[in-house]
Amino acid sequence: MMHRREFLRTILAGGLVIGTGSLMSGCKAIARNDLQLPGGSLETIPGLDETDVTILHHASLAPSGHNSQPWFVKALEPKNWIIGIDPQRRLPAVDPKNREALLSIGAFIENLSIAAGAMGFQAHTEVIANTPVEEEIVRVSLKKGKHTKYPLKRIITRRTVRGGYLPTEIRSKEVNALSEPLKDRLFYFPRGTEHAQCIQEGAIEYFRVQSYRAEAQKELSEWMRLKTADAKKHRNGLTTESMEISSFAGWFLRTFFDKEDVMKESFIKRGIDKVAKQAAEGGGWFIITSKGEGVSDLIDTGRRFERMALKAREHKLGIHPMTQFLEEKEGREVIAKNHDESMIPQFILRVGYLSNYPDPVSLRRPVSWFIRT
Ligand SMILES: Cc1cc2nc3c(=O)[nH]c(=O)nc-3n(C[C@H](O)[C@H](O)[C@H](O)COP(=O)(O)O)c2cc1C
Repeated sequence: MMHRREFLRTILAGGLVIGTGSLMSGCKAIARNDLQLPGGSLETIPGLDETDVTILHHASLAPSGHNSQPWFVKALEPKNWIIGIDPQRRLPAVDPKNREALLSIGAFIENLSIAAGAMGFQAHTEVIANTPVEEEIVRVSLKKGKHTKYPLKRIITRRTVRGGYLPTEIRSKEVNALSEPLKDRLFYFPRGTEHAQCIQEGAIEYFRVQSYRAEAQKELSEWMRLKTADAKKHRNGLTTESMEISSFAGWFLRTFFDKEDVMKESFIKRGIDKVAKQAAEGGGWFIITSKGEGVSDLIDTGRRFERMALKAREHKLGIHPMTQFLEEKEGREVIAKNHDESMIPQFILRVGYLSNYPDPVSLRRPVSWFIRT
């Protein structure tokens, strides 16, 4: 069998004619729209009506670390649900205390509430978990209410953007608009300032530290969906498209790489180089803090974060969580040493104008896969 490097050399030299057979099968990357039901129709799920499925579908478009989609929904009675964290979808190596899982559940609940409002329902929510490691987190009940006229397209088209940021400071008009859901808990550090430089260096350094922590890299590899068949089977995790590894490099990864390769030095080095390039782009950094660290604080922060992310979509601004700084022990120690105790950072985000806001590509499990009736 031809060695990878040899193969690359050969095609780069133009010496190999590639047919349309199996080698090219990974040519087109899989994206979210490829997996929609024909005509955008909804799933039929016993115990749920069309409104319920529509609301839960929009909820599931929330962001989550490694796109693990940690949520499950237990249907108690019509329009009475419990939202929980599926233990199979936790990320113990990078998120041992479920901090990020709870932020993601918060984002899920925010989308759920917004979609319910647009469908003429009001979502009443109550946090029922006392500790972050319980499975059942929030009870939701929907009551008839006013139609809010929120454009649901904004939820559908929001995405994490990693490349193509412009080097322009964010105007105060937009900083204020994005701060609004977070009140005094969003801090903007414009590019070029000393603080922005520190965050940029930390984002790269703790990404590097995490990449060489075998346990964390192994966990990441478990959420990689490099092969199209794997992506279709799980409909979660990270694909070449969602990591913005496109064209030839994407095809090469899909065709020749497996989960095991993610642990190799060459893969790790490329990842660090890519992140260093990304971290240098954009208009600066946002840090989002919370008042406390309890379950309710994290759910509330995840909800506000999602409202902010939807505003960013409205203003066509890219946001990119770069959270290794908060996940790695050394990173957390640096932050604790330099900041007041009352400032508890929950998100570190790169932010920037884009010449073009790209379509969403990350995959989602259908509602029937995460509902427990
Ligand atoms: C709590 C949390 C932490 C995240 N951390 C990172 C990160 O460190 N690096 C990154 O590239 N994306 C990060 N993301 C973005 C997710 O990878 C992204 O939301 C997921 O792949 C789904 O894609 P989407 O946001 O485009 O729908 C994070 C998202 C959340 C909610």
